Amino acid sequence: MLNRRRFVTLGATALGGAAVLPLTGDLLSPPPPIANAHHAGHGGSAAAVDATNVTFTPFTQRMPVPATLRPSHKTADTDIYTLPVRAAEAELVPGLRTPVLTYGGQFVGPTIRARTGRRTRVTFTNELDRPTNVHLHGGHVSPENDGHPMDLIPPGQARAYEYPNAQRAATLWYHDHTHGLEADHIYRGLHGFYLIEDRAERRFNLPDGAYDVPIMLRNAQFDEDGALVFGHPDNRTTILVNGKAQPYLPVAARRYRFRLLNSALKHVFRLNMGGVPMTKIATDGGLLPAPVERTELEVSSGERVEIVVDFAPHLGHGPLYLYDGENPILRFDVSRAHGRSDHSDVPDNLVPLPALAAATVERTMVMSMDMSVRPPIGLINGRPFDPYRVDTQIKQGATEIWNIVNADVSPFPFDHPFHTHLLQFQVIGRNDGPPLPEDAGLKDTVYVSPMGSVRIQMTFDTPYLGRYMYHCHFPEHSALGMMAQMEIIP
Ligand code: C2O
Ligand code: CU
Ligand code: CU
Repeated sequence: MLNRRRFVTLGATALGGAAVLPLTGDLLSPPPPIANAHHAGHGGSAAAVDATNVTFTPFTQRMPVPATLRPSHKTADTDIYTLPVRAAEAELVPGLRTPVLTYGGQFVGPTIRARTGRRTRVTFTNELDRPTNVHLHGGHVSPENDGHPMDLIPPGQARAYEYPNAQRAATLWYHDHTHGLEADHIYRGLHGFYLIEDRAERRFNLPDGAYDVPIMLRNAQFDEDGALVFGHPDNRTTILVNGKAQPYLPVAARRYRFRLLNSALKHVFRLNMGGVPMTKIATDGGLLPAPVERTELEVSSGERVEIVVDFAPHLGHGPLYLYDGENPILRFDVSRAHGRSDHSDVPDNLVPLPALAAATVERTMVMSMDMSVRPPIGLINGRPFDPYRVDTQIKQGATEIWNIVNADVSPFPFDHPFHTHLLQFQVIGRNDGPPLPEDAGLKDTVYVSPMGSVRIQMTFDTPYLGRYMYHCHFPEHSALGMMAQMEIIP
């Protein structure tokens, strides 16, 4: 029988020998030998190992916008799609071909656009030589459609996922969630945008169409030939913007809406435009009650932030850059070209947050990494993930407060972004004080600093009963066990 130990071991294999996983649909087969297991906790000392990287001239590739997926047909209430999951090659670094895993052949999968109240059905066909599955991150979906880490699509098979889109407009994303392999699969390209729009949003005059641009940010490590290296996270020094290393984007001298997603396995982006104001309008779960001007945005793995940037004042003043800290990652070339007059604006008020009902249950979730063993084990409340164990039972309709604690201290002060499936929450406190201004809005993923804590509140207002995950959204940590199960009960 499966036991906890086996799952932890299986998880660890994904960290090292990931390129050649002989898993062919049978998660019970003995795991392959563990290579590079010292990478597992990424505790620091291994940083020197295999720091190979490519050199290239930045800002020579144009940033693509992932194509919108076309439905194969439509019924009265459903848009129907098929999307193959397949190996492919992509030019991520100028002049180099990189073997990748893709949705529909694209390193950043095609964007699926949905509307609140209209259903989406996507049939994913697994053309890989290993199992996969698909999780809609941020989606309010039934447990059968959530991409449970043990609920897989074997190689050669297909599976339809149903998404009701009974939720607010928001920037979601879809990605692999195969237990133990999720980190490897996401790293190699199994990620794409899923955008929901609704009436409330359409009422506004936000930049739309070609001026509403999803931008996936992540890092990667390449060898000289352009192959992805799945090693120590600190060596992933190449930043990919919609799947291109440090690209440029021609923009018109007008307002743009950018939907920023951090799909890196482990990275906190410190986004800025060198002091140019960015108007933050939305978080993971959709529009804020009101826009806020920021000059810096911290975006941790799994999080989304939407901004509006007005390029009009910058026409004729040379390029602008989006920076991660000091590192320019995307160049904007401002021109008048294709700039019809800009009728968009950002209203003073957007969409109010749902009122917080009084909480009747309080829980504590402690995230920690056991570094005394090799490979390390990820823990929530002292236990690694066990697919046969329900960690938390939650009454349908209940309002709960969770105090998320990061117990990792020196010499391994890991940070952990905490993610809940099924629902968005609101952050009501941080580090024993009030939330930070940037914690405002509906969230499903929240950064928890080493030794820090975050209080979240949510109402399990859902028609669905069953099991869902909550976990650290550094997939290398969840693969090592930092993941648990909640069960919604009547
Ligand atoms: Cu984006 Cu369970 O994760
Ligand atoms: Cu999720
Ligand atoms: Cu973590």
